[in-house]
Amino acid sequence: MKKLGVAVIGTGFWGRNHTRVFKELEETGLIAVCDANAERAKKVAEQFGVKAYTNAGKMLKRKDIEAVSLCTWSTNLAKEALRALKARKHVLVEKPMAKNVKQAKKLLETAEKEGLHLSVGFLMRFIPGVQHIKKAIENKTIGDLVCATAKRVSQWPERIGDVGVVKDLAIHDIDVTRYLFGEDPTAVYAKAGSMKHRKFEDYAQIMLSFEGGKTAFIESNWLTPYKTRTLVVTGSEAIMKLDYITQELTIEDAKETVQPRYRWQEPLKLELHHFVKCILKKEKPLVTGIDGLKALQIAGAALKSSATDRLVKLK
Ligand SMILES: NC(=O)c1ccc[n+]([C@@H]2O[C@H](COP(=O)([O-])OP(=O)(O)OC[C@H]3O[C@@H](n4cnc5c(N)ncnc54)[C@H](O)[C@@H]3O)[C@@H](O)[C@H]2O)c1
Repeated sequence: MKKLGVAVIGTGFWGRNHTRVFKELEETGLIAVCDANAERAKKVAEQFGVKAYTNAGKMLKRKDIEAVSLCTWSTNLAKEALRALKARKHVLVEKPMAKNVKQAKKLLETAEKEGLHLSVGFLMRFIPGVQHIKKAIENKTIGDLVCATAKRVSQWPERIGDVGVVKDLAIHDIDVTRYLFGEDPTAVYAKAGSMKHRKFEDYAQIMLSFEGGKTAFIESNWLTPYKTRTLVVTGSEAIMKLDYITQELTIEDAKETVQPRYRWQEPLKLELHHFVKCILKKEKPLVTGIDGLKALQIAGAALKSSATDRLVKLK
C-alpha cells in the first residue's frame, strides 16, 4: 500500500499529538517534524524516530513530504500554511486557520490554484455523537430544529497567548452549529470580556441567529476551574445531549430516554485518518478551507458585536 509522506510543523502540546497519530496511522509515513524551538523539534523527532527541522522552508523542499499538519501558534498558522501550499504540499491547518479573513482567503485561493487539499482542524465534527445528531436533523427524527446550546469552559491554558477564547474555543462550536444546521447564521450578538487574561477576552457568550428563528447559544470561557464540553440540540420532537469528553449521547423524547452506545474514539485520529483518505482515495472532505474561513468570519463578527454592543448582520 502506498503511504502518504507527512510532516508536522509546530511540535508543542497539540503538534505532538498530530505527530503520534501520523505515526500510528497505517496509511501515513511520518518523515519529519519542524519547530522554531530546536530543543522541542529534536525531542519530538527523537521520540518518533524522524528527522528534526527548525527551518520549515528547508523541510518543505523534500519531495517525499506530500502533506503537512500546521500546529504552530495560532497567529503563525496562515503564514506557515501558505508556505507549505506554495511548496505543493496538502495542508491541514489547525484552527483558527489564520489571523484574519484576508489571510484565510489567500490560503483558499492558493490551494485551489495548486489543486491541493486544504482542511482545518475542526475535529468535533468527527465525533460519532455529532454524526448521529447530524443524521437526526437530516432525517427529521429530531423534528424541526429549534436551537443548539454549546458550553466549552475550562481554565486558561497559559501557553495560549496570541488569541482569545473566541478564536481558540468558541470557534469549534461556531463550526459545529454551522455544520449541524447545514446553513450559515444570518446575525450574531455577543458579549465578551477579560477577567484574568492580560491581552484577550477570556469569556464570551455568543448568540447566532439562523433562518426561520433557529438559534445557537455558545458559552465559552477560560475561567472555570473544571473542564466542560457539551452540546444540547433541541428539536420539536426530541432533545439530544452530547458530552464531547465522554462522547456520551443522550436522546430524550416524549416517550423515552435512550443512550445509543458508541465506542469512544480519538477525534484527532478520526480527523487525520479522514484527511489522509481524502488525499489518497479522493474521498469527499468533511471539513474544507471554506469552513475555516466562515468560522473565522463569524468569530470576528462576534468580537465586533461585543466591542460595539450591537447585533452584527452576516452576509
Ligand atoms: N483542534 C483542536 O482541538 C486543537 C487543540 C489544541 C490546539 N489546537 C491548535 O493547535 C495550535 C498549537 O497549539 P498548542 O497548544 O500546541 O501550542 P504550543 O504553544 O504548545 O505549541 C506551538 C508550537 O509551535 C511552535 N511554533 C510557533 N511558530 C512557529 C513557526 N512559525 N514555525 C515552527 N514552529 C513554530 C512553537 O515553538 C511551539 O512549540 C494552535 O493554533 C491551537 O489553536 C487545536
